[in-house]
Amino acid sequence: RKKMTLPRFLAQKEKGKKITMVTAYDYLWAQLFDEAGVDSILVGDSLGMVVQGRQSTVPVTLDQIIYHGEMVVRAVKNALVIVDMPFMSYEVSPQEAIRNAGRILKETGATAVKLEGGESQAETIRALARSELAVMAHVGMKPQSHQLLGGMGRIQRNEAQLIADAKAAEEAGAFGIVLELIPADLAQKVTDAISIPTIGIGAGPHCDGQVLVSPDMLGLTPGFQPRFLKHFANLRDAAIDGTRSFIDEVESGQYPDASHSHE
Ligand code: KIV
Ligand code: NA
Repeated sequence: RKKMTLPRFLAQKEKGKKITMVTAYDYLWAQLFDEAGVDSILVGDSLGMVVQGRQSTVPVTLDQIIYHGEMVVRAVKNALVIVDMPFMSYEVSPQEAIRNAGRILKETGATAVKLEGGESQAETIRALARSELAVMAHVGMKPQSHQLLGGMGRIQRNEAQLIADAKAAEEAGAFGIVLELIPADLAQKVTDAISIPTIGIGAGPHCDGQVLVSPDMLGLTPGFQPRFLKHFANLRDAAIDGTRSFIDEVESGQYPDASHSHE
């Protein structure tokens, strides 16, 4: 397999080859997803919820995402690694965004950063692109703005705004856009309106690629059942069953036996 680069990532849209992306937060899982052959790995600020157990992505800090991003990059041979810019690491000014994106790329070795926004962040996307920092946009449902949206699960249906966001992000120099929680027909319109890849989550089958939060994808978070999600494995039950077997065998004296012991 070839190493995924930004030019190859962009070329997949032209070729009509779907782009795959999953989140990872550490060496162990990133190594596994890379070996499985995923095109790209996102060190998402979903970290706050699935790893840290918080209610939202808002508390995640720049130092935390760098710590996790660095572990992921160390594991990856082929996938394109993208790291989320945490809440308030890019909103204050384009200058501050450049400094923080620079820290992320320099200290993790990742290829690109992602921030939430389209039209509203166009100036910042442009500043990052002009500094030759690869940046992905994220429009539709923006989890960092969940307080304004009235919740994390709200489908975004404002067609004019979504098209404007996507076009503004492309024009400002973003290399791709995540579309989160928008109707399928609208995601298709956005995808057709721009020439950079769209990566959907809860955005139907017409995007150029798909991303899922990996613990959700692998059935480790069964309490979370939005309509768009599919469990591609049932790792939670496998992990609980394995752990219960360990407990039973240690308590009964079945494990360890002579074959597991040194002379
Ligand atoms: O943080 C994250 O995992 C994300 C994906 C859902 C796109 O931003
Ligand atoms: Na995110």
